[in-house]
Amino acid sequence: MDPVVVGISGASGSILAKRTVEMLIDRDIPVIMTCTAAARMVWQEEMDETFNAALARWGEFPYFKYYPIGDLKAPIASGTMPTSGMIITPCSVGTLAAIANGLSSNLLQRSADVCIKEKRKLVLVPRETPLSSIHLENMLRVSNLGVAILPPVPAFYLKPRSIDDVVEYIVAKTIDSLGLSGFMNDDLRYQRSTE
Ligand SMILES: Cc1cc2nc3c(=O)[nH]c(=O)nc-3n(C[C@H](O)[C@H](O)[C@H](O)COP(=O)(O)O)c2cc1C
Repeated sequence: MDPVVVGISGASGSILAKRTVEMLIDRDIPVIMTCTAAARMVWQEEMDETFNAALARWGEFPYFKYYPIGDLKAPIASGTMPTSGMIITPCSVGTLAAIANGLSSNLLQRSADVCIKEKRKLVLVPRETPLSSIHLENMLRVSNLGVAILPPVPAFYLKPRSIDDVVEYIVAKTIDSLGLSGFMNDDLRYQRSTE
């Protein structure tokens, strides 16, 4: 299977990125990752494990590859490298704006631009609140190009008991949006009462 590209940008929600990588690796799906400088700052604020320690752990999986954000010669900067699409989680509104305007000024933005031009799946998980008209216009702009916008919104009807419950649902839904089946199991779906 072609790799899934995972981009991490500097919005709150580093745990979403962590679980996304782990869910893919657990299914033996190849992952190529890049991460912005701001994402590393947020990770440091939010996570117990350092980002470099997580990278080292993921690197034990033979089909995990990480490229630094400035490495514009990385294979994912070119449309000639086949991929199964890209997830940006969490997605800052800064990165959203850059993608909506085709800036391609770092590896993450360029890789997203490649997905759009090659008509591959691109899923953004933007985390910001409240949303300004600028954010909403940028979302509409990329949505009109076929990009999936999946804000990390809890499924309250599943009665989540922990942040982990919320995260499991959002990450499964995100990967599902890429067109990979089998991540949304029955525990993550609303079961209509039969009583
Ligand atoms: C602790 C922390 C939390 C942040 N949370 C958010 C957020 O939830 N959403 C957002 O869009 N930006 C957030 N930011 C601001 C972005 O990190 C900032 O705009 C940055 O320039 C984004 O760069 P990037 O898109 O290259 O990652 C946060 C910054 C810090 C330090």
